[in-house]
Amino acid sequence: MTGSGKALLRVEDLAVHFRADRKRFVRAVNGVSFELLPGETLGLVGESGCGKSTLGRALLRLGPITGGSAYFDGIDIAGADATGIAHLRRETAMIFQDPYNALNPRLPIGAAIAEVLAVQGKVPRAGIQARVAELMAMVGLSPDLADRRPAALSGGQCQRAGIARALAVEPKLIIADECVAALDVSIQAQIINLLIELKSQMNLALIFIAHDLGVVRRLCDRVAVMYLGRIVEMGRTEDVFSDPQHPYTKALMRAIPEIDPDRGLPNDPLGGEPPSPLDIPPGCAFHPRCPAVMPICRQDPVPATRFINACEIACHLYDDPQTNHQSTRERIHA
Ligand SMILES: Nc1ncnc2c1ncn2[C@@H]1O[C@H](COP(=O)(O)OP(=O)(O)OP(=O)(O)O)[C@@H](O)[C@H]1O
Ligand SMILES: [Mg+2]
Repeated sequence: MTGSGKALLRVEDLAVHFRADRKRFVRAVNGVSFELLPGETLGLVGESGCGKSTLGRALLRLGPITGGSAYFDGIDIAGADATGIAHLRRETAMIFQDPYNALNPRLPIGAAIAEVLAVQGKVPRAGIQARVAELMAMVGLSPDLADRRPAALSGGQCQRAGIARALAVEPKLIIADECVAALDVSIQAQIINLLIELKSQMNLALIFIAHDLGVVRRLCDRVAVMYLGRIVEMGRTEDVFSDPQHPYTKALMRAIPEIDPDRGLPNDPLGGEPPSPLDIPPGCAFHPRCPAVMPICRQDPVPATRFINACEIACHLYDDPQTNHQSTRERIHA
């Protein structure tokens, strides 16, 4: 999609299909392409089941890849051998939704952070304790919590410990999958502030998977909207929020109540049948629920995304480059 030569992550037509039975596949990720620059934060949003977590896991080789390609820092993620995967582990990390489950319940958090440092080998053994203290300070944890096990900590403290573990590898890329969803609202804000601070300090690239559009708007430079395993719209966060182009994005944005912008995505913003990646409709996958559906949408696969008003859109409404998009937008707003 964006054609800069400096991308940290370059994803091209990536697919993750799971076999459901003898004949059918769950097409969880079904042709995703994008690039991520060093230090950039990309929000990944879309209804439950659209493939966000599957994509995130595939990109870190924590889950399978069944088609397409993805390159991180020059490493072919899908085809990586043990050395390539070891490199990927040293340069990337994931932060999970459930901070308690993400940590070993038997290990005090200081030891859990030290374990990552020992495996990664960038810090000499004698320096590990000092680095653990430094990482804990960085995420706002008092050093006397180092001896506590996860069960003796609050959810917010556990998530900070999870972030410290992720930072221990000094990653270039972190993928955070709903990493504040399980926390109280006030703690969520603290963790988001921490991420904002850390990413600017460390030039971290971040893929931030979230239902909460308010948080995405605060944190992310760009946002990608997924529908049934594909990115349907991607652009600078402010552009996508203030002037969404794809009918699905418009529906999502319209469904955010103005009085409570921090509310999450509605599970069914449009009504109609909830989508199933087992049975993806022909043509444009969104056509059965699209308020602007045209005959072509029922038959022809959606073309690759193209730039419209600074966003990348995959939608037949924008097929003809000669189209006057302003009038198209007015038409589908009606
Ligand atoms: N290991 C698996 N085997 C079979 N199907 C799977 C597997 N993992 C995920 N899926 C299916 O792939 C689809 C996408 O799932 P995924 O968890 O990536 O969605 P998501 O966008 O992260 O949803 P949520 O917002 O609820 O977390 C779903 O239909 C899910 O049931
Ligand atoms: Mg998920």
